[in-house]
Amino acid sequence: MKHHVKDLRLSKTGKKRIEWAEQDMPVLRNIREHFKKKKPLKGVKIAACLHVTTETANLMITLKTGGADASLCASNPLSTQDDVAASLVKDYKIPTYAVKGESNKVYYQHINAVLDRKPNITMDDGADLVSVLHSKRKKDAENLIGSTEETTTGVIRLKSLAANGLLKFPVIAVNDAATKHFFDNRYGTGQSTIDGITRATNRLIAGSSFVVCGYGWCGRGLAMRARGMGANVIVTEIDPLKALEAVMDGFSVMPIADAARVGDIFCTVTGNINVIRKEHFRSMKDGAIVSNSGHFNVELGLDGLKTITKKKREVRELVVEHTLKNRRRVYVLADGRLVNLASAEGHPASVMDMSFANQALSAGYLVKRGSRLGNEVYTVPEEIDREIARMKLATLGVKIDKLTAEQKKYLASWEMGT
Ligand SMILES: NC(=O)c1ccc[n+]([C@@H]2O[C@H](COP(=O)([O-])OP(=O)(O)OC[C@H]3O[C@@H](n4cnc5c(N)ncnc54)[C@H](O)[C@@H]3O)[C@@H](O)[C@H]2O)c1
Repeated sequence: MKHHVKDLRLSKTGKKRIEWAEQDMPVLRNIREHFKKKKPLKGVKIAACLHVTTETANLMITLKTGGADASLCASNPLSTQDDVAASLVKDYKIPTYAVKGESNKVYYQHINAVLDRKPNITMDDGADLVSVLHSKRKKDAENLIGSTEETTTGVIRLKSLAANGLLKFPVIAVNDAATKHFFDNRYGTGQSTIDGITRATNRLIAGSSFVVCGYGWCGRGLAMRARGMGANVIVTEIDPLKALEAVMDGFSVMPIADAARVGDIFCTVTGNINVIRKEHFRSMKDGAIVSNSGHFNVELGLDGLKTITKKKREVRELVVEHTLKNRRRVYVLADGRLVNLASAEGHPASVMDMSFANQALSAGYLVKRGSRLGNEVYTVPEEIDREIARMKLATLGVKIDKLTAEQKKYLASWEMGT
């Protein structure tokens, strides 16, 4: 079996960690049991480009259990957990192509390696497989039943392809399922980003000025958790509604140019480009820590930072000290890549349980219904989304009320007022 991982001898630790995550993924376990009996993915080739974490390993095992011929490559050069990649190959016989710290060239070699297997379904986190299938490997797009997309940035890229009439197959935007972004983007990114920043720096968050750029799903979660750790949280936004929401949630809101002067720790979660630029780096306090937890490493203007940096050195793992021409030091974490995955382990399994339940069920849906779908971006069918919420509540032992007949009637009527 072809593969490319760092070291197969790491598999023992990887397997233990995959099993640890599995304990906290009861919904995915239920789906795996169902897949084992029904084999809904029998004979289907699935190529996944996802962060190679313990949770992703559990998704891949589930797809294989459902009968798929599944292979995996990394969706970011720094997010791979090498022990997990080793175990996927050695213990689960899943072709995996991912090495933490791989160059851009190797990253694309790995993408091509999974596409060489001529998949019928692709699973993306950031739309890189789909992007290659629409540029360098258009012919291979003909084998596709459809694709699924895990993250906000990927969905934006795919909607742009569809709006231009270029999308060659249906895509299910897993990110847009309520059981995904309400929880994964908010609570997952909130917790794991704080985890990444603290593991990388071991700095005290209490009492610091913590700047969150972007108050979308991820930003809300991050601001909430930073406040919980005792930080004075400052939010920057470009959308008046989100900015107003942040104000009413009790945060200080200001432009990045002002926030840059007062912040101790910065984190971007916008999905946008050059959010923190040269002029902002220049006005930061000595010792400022700057990171990103948005999908691509374009949110920090690192090229601009380079032009005002006099000296650069790595002071801790994935912490680079930039001594600026004005003598102040700015610390950039993980080369501006997703700090929660590069410097920590990514989201906890309990939230990925729902995200990956959506992925597994969406793959099944594509097999069943894909031929009837147009070349558009679809949301996860509501019945799947609700079923996942129901299953998660059940595994948490939480019961809720049912509408009474009278309530159902009331909600469907217009006649009754005061
Ligand atoms: N780190 C992770 O594990 C992880 C998990 C989920 C999503 N993501 C990524 O995080 C990013 C954000 O995702 P989301 O779901 O929160 O998206 P979102 O669309 O809900 O929020 C993004 C917010 O950023 C704001 N914004 C845009 N440009 C800005 C700028 N220049 N300055 C300040 N604010 C700006 C937007 O107005 C919006 O409110 C995406 O790239 C997504 O793919 C990362």
